[in-house]
Amino acid sequence: MLEIIERKRWGGKLSRAMIEDAVLGYTRGEIPDYQMSALLMAICLNGMDEEETFELTRAMARSGERVDLTAIPGVKVDKHSTGGVADTTTLVIGPWAAAVGVPVAKMSGRGLSFTGGTIDKLEAIPGFRTDLSMAEFTAAVREVGVAVTGQSGELAPADKKIYALRDVTGTVESLPLIASSIMSKKLSSGADGLVLDVKCGEGAFMATKEAGEELARAMVRIAGSAGLRAVALVTAMDQPLGENIGNALEVAEAIEILQGGRKDSDLYRVCRALAAEMTALSLGLEQREAEKRLDAALSTGEALEKFRAMVARQGGDPETADHPARLYDPPAFVITAWRDGVIEAQHPRALGLLAQRMGAGREKLGDAIDPKVGLVLKKRVGDPVAAGEPLCEVHLGRRMDEAAVRERFKEAVVIGEKAEKRPVLLARIDE
Ligand code: URA
Repeated sequence: MLEIIERKRWGGKLSRAMIEDAVLGYTRGEIPDYQMSALLMAICLNGMDEEETFELTRAMARSGERVDLTAIPGVKVDKHSTGGVADTTTLVIGPWAAAVGVPVAKMSGRGLSFTGGTIDKLEAIPGFRTDLSMAEFTAAVREVGVAVTGQSGELAPADKKIYALRDVTGTVESLPLIASSIMSKKLSSGADGLVLDVKCGEGAFMATKEAGEELARAMVRIAGSAGLRAVALVTAMDQPLGENIGNALEVAEAIEILQGGRKDSDLYRVCRALAAEMTALSLGLEQREAEKRLDAALSTGEALEKFRAMVARQGGDPETADHPARLYDPPAFVITAWRDGVIEAQHPRALGLLAQRMGAGREKLGDAIDPKVGLVLKKRVGDPVAAGEPLCEVHLGRRMDEAAVRERFKEAVVIGEKAEKRPVLLARIDE
């Protein structure tokens, strides 16, 4: 392992055997955390070429089993986001795509660094089980059309261990590590197709549109080399995607969209575009036809009905679909605008870190989450504001005091003179 670390430390290329030794040795517990941390940091700093990234992906995928979804009829299309702030798309898209007949067997992860995770969000619904066995998982998809469960221990266990280590060693932001982490799980997930949502901007692991496109191309290529059809959308994460940041709050916002609300939001636009890609891929439809079917499923209430059925099937209270506000307490206080102007920035990373600090995410391995805490933003970048107008409702919890939240919020939001509204859908990459 020392030789492998040193080679990467000096910018050398790792062979397939070296990558396999490191990944499989670490998974088996033969390589200690400190050595893996050192290798991850060397990869972060010196990168990996396409071949090394593919080998890393393969080794992590091979560390576990491949999920067998053949018992589920139809073309299974998986969806994955590279992670962002207030990005609750899976909770909307899973039931929505299922409502038009796409079988959705989704394995999701937990929050990483300042980003939220679908599994943490779903656990905000009391009783909701995210630890389905493979048999339970496939049975739920067959019966309901959609199920979302945690990444099983058998699925790319190397990634599970490495992901947790990266989260606490400052080694999250690296193209080869992100691409291989995501794609190892996707290659093992048993799906026939894949729709990727690659976030870019300050609240994503890729800062620029170009870096987002590069990550998107890397992942679509890995998929292609492994025989999986994939398409990626590059979407903006230069402010939180939705209005709500925090687990229960994000579930509630997803439900509002499934209820037919928030049609003029970036969250809705991204969900609709991703769901259309999934539907087109799974059912072999033109994009337009896919969108038409999805619009109908939303207006007839079928999408919300799928959400209700999914929650019930996984042990949660189906009435959550009608009363999402039961998931959290009323806000403790409201932060108002400190001057007249226009919202120039709502720095997503700072807001994500603030929510994390309040208890919506973890700062170290094994930290408990407080599902009810978080922020509800009342404005978008480009919106005019008058002094005294509400900017944010704060669901406080116990880990921070009001003054500290106010101070950090004020550092994260800029009220200026002028700002444009920016598009959220930036690029589509399919080869
Ligand atoms: N999502 C993942 O699954 N892995 C990463 O490394 C980043 C986002």
